[in-house]
Amino acid sequence: MQPFQTDTIKELALQCATTAGQLSLERMKQPYLVEYKTSASDLVTAVDKEVERQIVQTILDRYPDHGILGEEGTFEGDLSTCDTVWVIDPIDGTTNFVHQQINFSVSIAVYHKGQPLIGVVYDPSRDELFHAAKGEGAYLNERRLQLDRQVKLEEALLCTSVFWNKRAEQMGIDLIVKKLAGKVRGMRLLGSAALEMSYVAAGRLDGYVSLSLNPWDFGAGKILVEEAGGVVTKMNGLPLPMDQKSSVMACNPTFYEELRNYLMIEEGLSTETES
Ligand code: IPD
Ligand code: CA
Ligand code: CA
Repeated sequence: MQPFQTDTIKELALQCATTAGQLSLERMKQPYLVEYKTSASDLVTAVDKEVERQIVQTILDRYPDHGILGEEGTFEGDLSTCDTVWVIDPIDGTTNFVHQQINFSVSIAVYHKGQPLIGVVYDPSRDELFHAAKGEGAYLNERRLQLDRQVKLEEALLCTSVFWNKRAEQMGIDLIVKKLAGKVRGMRLLGSAALEMSYVAAGRLDGYVSLSLNPWDFGAGKILVEEAGGVVTKMNGLPLPMDQKSSVMACNPTFYEELRNYLMIEEGLSTETES
């Protein structure tokens, strides 16, 4: 078993993300198959599957003992036997992709023995590469990202998708967030959680809140935000898991406690049963 080589593995993650993003952008110009997963608002395309297969093959050619948790389920091995697990979303923002919108991204996180060590998010439409390694900082292309600006909640630009979540409605969180919208500078919804979390790391958004995301949506974004100096937890304040659905709060540290208190989510109530 090789020791974890952060630089070499990060280099491969960067290569996978940029190649995959450029392939998506190419494929977007031609016809491709679009299927419903569970409904008309839950889509998968032939491009999602092709891109994931390509990433998985590239990783396994180099590291046959690594495991991969990808949204499209291309990896067939047993994750429980793997020390190093890549958590990937080949296209985060498939609905935007299908509607020929620009806000979609490739998201790749690498965990070693359960610890998140590398995060890469690539936005091919703008050629922006967000990347971070544990203890080594977060970057947008070559530029170091550092959340050193003090931001009051009333000055914050927040991002969320809870208004459209049935469980949020059952729990009344949609109304809490609606009330919150009146207290902050503005709310945005871009449709790619990985990109939205990258924007929090870059200070373009001050916070991101979701009641329910999959591990491939938030894995890379979590490392990016933390390495930029931000805070990322479940809505109940607990750490995010590696391989399960979770609620997510990612924000500038100045107002993390205030925002969490505002949302008033009880432990165990956050996401464990999802709509
Ligand atoms: C979706 C996006 C979206 C978030 C959804 C995700 P997908 O991922 O990240 O922003 O609100 O919960 O499922 O399906 O486009 O990979
Ligand atoms: Ca996703
Ligand atoms: Ca996806």
